[in-house]
Amino acid sequence: MKSYNIALMPGDGTGPEVIKEGVKVLNAVGRKYGIKLNFTDYDFGGERYMRTGETLPDSALKELKKHDAIYLGAIGHPDVKPGILEVGILLKLRFALDQYINLRPVKLYPNVETPLRDKGPEHIDFVVIRENTGDIYTGMGGATMVGTQNEIATQIMLYSRPIVERCVRFAYDYTRKRNRKKTLTLVHKCNVLTYVGDLWVRVHKEIGDKEYKDIKQDYNHVDACTMWMVKSPEFYDVIVTANLFGDIITDLGAMIQGGMGIAAGGNINPEGVSMFEPIGGSAPKYTGKNVINPLAAICAGGMMLETLGEAKAAAAVDKAVHDALASGKIKSLSAGRMGMSTTQVGDLVASMVK
Ligand code: IPM
Ligand code: MN
Repeated sequence: MKSYNIALMPGDGTGPEVIKEGVKVLNAVGRKYGIKLNFTDYDFGGERYMRTGETLPDSALKELKKHDAIYLGAIGHPDVKPGILEVGILLKLRFALDQYINLRPVKLYPNVETPLRDKGPEHIDFVVIRENTGDIYTGMGGATMVGTQNEIATQIMLYSRPIVERCVRFAYDYTRKRNRKKTLTLVHKCNVLTYVGDLWVRVHKEIGDKEYKDIKQDYNHVDACTMWMVKSPEFYDVIVTANLFGDIITDLGAMIQGGMGIAAGGNINPEGVSMFEPIGGSAPKYTGKNVINPLAAICAGGMMLETLGEAKAAAAVDKAVHDALASGKIKSLSAGRMGMSTTQVGDLVASMVK
């Protein structure tokens, strides 16, 4: 029997509630597909920070690196100043583990309401590959004359050719494996970002022309992309984009697929330890009420199996989520309006695993 060591980081707010349901479904799939998952709990997050002043010590990083994957609930606490936990835990992990791909599928399941009029599951099914280690997120820059009338602040949009290349190559591979429209759309802003955008455009074309002749190349400026995502989402197959643009367009993506209750993300290092998370955050006001939607966490668990190489088990999670929604028993994806509790949604999906 195949076995994997998974580091659980339930984190803050509703994180633990949704991760519990994710683990339930993963165990159900594991039983059917002969996969054993060994979970080890880690309590990094807001509570621990307030208790100890510690976000994510280097010793923890070392331990996390020994696992096959990390399954994360949510990071963010109302009593902690914004930025401390995000930078100290989430971004630290992404950078330290070199998780250079942020994989965010945008998929509308049956019976899920989208704010887009006249669009259904046949129109909304694409994947955003967000570069996850470069860009404005590297924290390069500075400020001077802070507090004066002439204060200056910079934050640099940084990209190196190797960082762009490895992301673009992953995206082409992914598009080929996905085997749908075989179209990889680069999203950037090369009409204004004439250095960084140009680097992305050239790498996208060079790698595509040389190594992926079977994949169609396309390009959208990021502002136009937000327009097309709303007007004609069926246009997309796979999008590859820079870190900040990817951050922004995947929130829009989450909304058109029915909201944060279903949006999952994978922070992937194809050669190392990857981390999977629902992208919705800690939702403090719903904490402990058993009303939050665990589907995003469940889908993130499916992505984890996929990345571990368990394609059949991953497909079974996706199918179970699909069937649970198709059954019509889940009334809405919004917290408190699902017509059932967090636990019941987890039970329903687990019972649908085939
Ligand atoms: C996300 C989040 C993070 C990001 C924040 C919390 C640092 O918005 O995962 O999309 O900007 O990447
Ligand atoms: Mn975001």
